[in-house]
Amino acid sequence: MNADAGICYLDGAYLPLAEARVSVLDRGFIFGDAVYEVLPVVAGRMFALEEHLERLARSLAAIGIAPPLTLAAWRDCLAGLITRNGGGNLSVYLQVTRGVAPRDHAFPSAATPTVFAMCRPLTMTAGISVVNAVTLPDNRWLRCDIKSTSLLANVLLRNEALRCGAYEALLLRDGWLTEGAASNVFVVSDGVVRTPPLSDRLLAGVTRGLLLEVMGRGGRPCREEAIDERTLRGAGEIWITSSSRDLLCVGRLDGVAVGDGANYPVASAVLQDFITYRDQRLGSGT
Ligand SMILES: Cc1ncc(COP(=O)(O)O)c(C=O)c1O
Repeated sequence: MNADAGICYLDGAYLPLAEARVSVLDRGFIFGDAVYEVLPVVAGRMFALEEHLERLARSLAAIGIAPPLTLAAWRDCLAGLITRNGGGNLSVYLQVTRGVAPRDHAFPSAATPTVFAMCRPLTMTAGISVVNAVTLPDNRWLRCDIKSTSLLANVLLRNEALRCGAYEALLLRDGWLTEGAASNVFVVSDGVVRTPPLSDRLLAGVTRGLLLEVMGRGGRPCREEAIDERTLRGAGEIWITSSSRDLLCVGRLDGVAVGDGANYPVASAVLQDFITYRDQRLGSGT
């Protein structure tokens, strides 16, 4: 698929992505003054839409933009987008900017938020995939809980990981794990699954939350607990999670094998439970 193929949604209209235009004075373009979401669509059905829209509402509130659409209007808007793109397995990207205004850091007294959404094909997870990661210093701002489009630091970090031959950067702030450049992180040691607790240092990943729920229901020992560098490096398994890739295992961290470097028994079991949980929710329309 070409990068600009498909139909997108922009401020109330559906149109070919290649024809969509926003003003150069849009504050999303000028300041990165915008928030976004990415959610999976499986066989034409949106998964965890409410969780994504709740997080969008929190991001909008954090930056003082009034919600441009109700939950029902979002549902209709995205359903129209999915239908027009042929359904199937998709990753939906949506973005809300503060709108168009003369360039000034201060919030404009009147601006209408720009609402944009597009989608692209999504490859569904069938089983455990293994990627390599490197550790890098977390040099981002201190409001990583806001899903802001101002992602320059994340872009540089992820690019540095790729330059090192790895897929993801695992970020350390003052010796403590926060998250990945575009993912949350879980570690498994002595049969216990741990992930850093929510704070303004990391994004409340929807996949992170759902995995904790699935593990809690299954009675699997899991904790939201601060993880230091030593624990990270000594882990038997390391997972990175996101809505578009579900759960990936880290095979090598900074070139060193994680655990025995070949087996991911806890991840395999948890991913299977997660897929079952997702299928159940999709089947029941939630
Ligand atoms: C910085 C960051 N943390 C965590 C995540 C995972 O969040 P989610 O599971 O909601 O996709 C992402 C996803 O893109 C991300 O960019």
